[in-house]
Amino acid sequence: MVKIAVLRETTPGEARVSASPETVKKFIALGATVSVENEAGAGASIGDGDYANAGAAVGNLAAVLKDADIVLGVQGPDPKALKGMKPGAWLVAGLDPFGQRSRIDAYAKAGVEALAMEFMPRITRAQSMDILSSQSNLSGYKAVIEAASVYGRAFPMMMTAAGTISAARAFIMGVGVAGLQAIATARRLGAQVSATDVRSATKEQIESLGAKAIFVENVAGIQGEGAGGYATEMSDEYKAAQAELVSAHIAKQDIVITTALIPGRPAPRLVSDAQIASMKPGSVIFDLAVAQGGNVEGSKADEIVIKHGVKIIGYSNTPAHLAADASALYARNLFNFLSAFWDKEAGKPVLPDDDEITAAIRLTKDGKVVNERLMA
Ligand code: NAI
Repeated sequence: MVKIAVLRETTPGEARVSASPETVKKFIALGATVSVENEAGAGASIGDGDYANAGAAVGNLAAVLKDADIVLGVQGPDPKALKGMKPGAWLVAGLDPFGQRSRIDAYAKAGVEALAMEFMPRITRAQSMDILSSQSNLSGYKAVIEAASVYGRAFPMMMTAAGTISAARAFIMGVGVAGLQAIATARRLGAQVSATDVRSATKEQIESLGAKAIFVENVAGIQGEGAGGYATEMSDEYKAAQAELVSAHIAKQDIVITTALIPGRPAPRLVSDAQIASMKPGSVIFDLAVAQGGNVEGSKADEIVIKHGVKIIGYSNTPAHLAADASALYARNLFNFLSAFWDKEAGKPVLPDDDEITAAIRLTKDGKVVNERLMA
């Protein structure tokens, strides 16, 4: 019988967990046994008893890892913690392959087959397995809620006997999964919302959510869309045109949410100190890219930085601030992935070497780093 182990996260500030009682039950229904480390769900409000009731064994790290075939995590564990893991076993987590390269090498050395869930290809078949989408969606929501909570004014227009309060103006920079949810959330709270992106395909999406699209037009040779629907690095000409357009717009905004990322590179700088200085005191900027280097000049993870009277905020791990929902969705992403490859005869998941998903997410196998994106 295949044994699935669920780790307690050890990264500071990580409150999520990689399995829920629901996915534990589903794995057992597929014929697996599941072993959960003590207190693994505490940060996500899931008790050891909840896992036990779902049919899991609950125990310490050594007991959980012993004979495990598949080890699940949210973030990649310290390779030292995996001493008890058997060679050839899978490690399935968000492994941060570019940021944690030395860990990946250590997993290879330990003979572990490391599968990086954030490398899941953006194809229709893999949508339900995409941890970046499930977590970004919640992050986009939380960014707006946090910005609203720090903002010293209200979001909606209010007409009261004591006078009228005008609606907040919110500007969303980067309209991927997080940005779309940020637009929807800010609209629900009653703000006047505008948004921008480098991918021209987002224009229609912005407008369909009832927000205003702010776009650089007439700069030659720019599509902004690279492989898998991700953004590409832009030309200098485009960057200059974008900065000018944004400068004029940003000075009138009360709330700015930045979400721009480019895979494998530092986050693009979207808001400069001069632009911050042009904003009204009391305005709030939430930098969702702060952990990847930041879109906003001067932003610091997990701190409220005040510059020119503008509050700049951002979390090193935004989904961990919504750990219960983030864990539930993350756990389903892992289940959807493993169950899609479940081989009934073998009684366990099998990853064909020639599958697009395998090639994308497999980092290490048989003692070596095998992923193309890590070989260059
Ligand atoms: P992301 O997290 O990599 O980046 C966030 C946004 O920032 C993107 O929209 C990107 O274009 C934008 N951006 C990058 N540089 C910028 C700049 N200099 N100025 C302004 N904006 C900038 O992107 P995310 O959220 O992962 O989504 C990217 C695309 O992939 C979306 O179209 C999404 O719908 C698609 N997608 C497809 C999936 C599937 O088919 N399985 C799953 C998830 C997303």
